Amino acid sequence: MNSLVLFRSEYGHTEKYAQWLGESLSTAPIDLADRRPTPLIGADCAIFVLPVYAANLTAVKRVGQLAEAAPEVPIAIATVSMNDLNSDTNGREEVLGKCKAALPAPVFKRINWFHLRGGLDYERMRFQHRMLMRMMYGMMRQRAKKGDEKAQKFCDSYGKSVDFTDRELLEPVLEFARSVNDRKGQANV
Ligand SMILES: Cc1cc2nc3c(=O)[nH]c(=O)nc-3n(C[C@H](O)[C@H](O)[C@H](O)COP(=O)(O)O)c2cc1C
Repeated sequence: MNSLVLFRSEYGHTEKYAQWLGESLSTAPIDLADRRPTPLIGADCAIFVLPVYAANLTAVKRVGQLAEAAPEVPIAIATVSMNDLNSDTNGREEVLGKCKAALPAPVFKRINWFHLRGGLDYERMRFQHRMLMRMMYGMMRQRAKKGDEKAQKFCDSYGKSVDFTDRELLEPVLEFARSVNDRKGQANV
């Protein structure tokens, strides 16, 4: 199997998933913060593991450039976020909508999506992120007062560090890598 795992991470949750995937697929994960070019050409598939910040997927433009330069390579994106985007339909559509706007249409169409849960570490949070969270808290408190349950959940967890990373959540991503590999194997028979 010749799968590529590429990631970006601020506080380590996404990196942990990338490392787990790398172990399972016998490949060294590539940090997209590393400025060296990372061509995808020749890989069986490329799996991008990327965190969500304010509904934006980090490094999505870089995904577009790399994927466009390697049109034959199957692409997956595993998002890492606080909310469970598998069940949070509005949250998922917001993130995917922004990706759609940021990516060339043929690249967006090729993407196989997976959604993983990360965590929040208030002690290690950068000042800028802390301020953003405080602003969001102010907004969410208003919404919670009007009965918004999602906003109430946000307020209840504000300021508390949590970690939802779970290796088992990667099973569908590994299944994707295996199925791509099986198809390649059959094509080469
Ligand atoms: C400033 C800030 C904004 C965030 N925005 C979102 C968001 O819009 N939706 C979400 O589900 N999670 C959001 N998160 C949670 C991150 O996606 C989560 O912490 C993730 O695990 C970060 O991955 P990392 O540790 O690899 O950087 C936000 C976190 C911070 C600090």
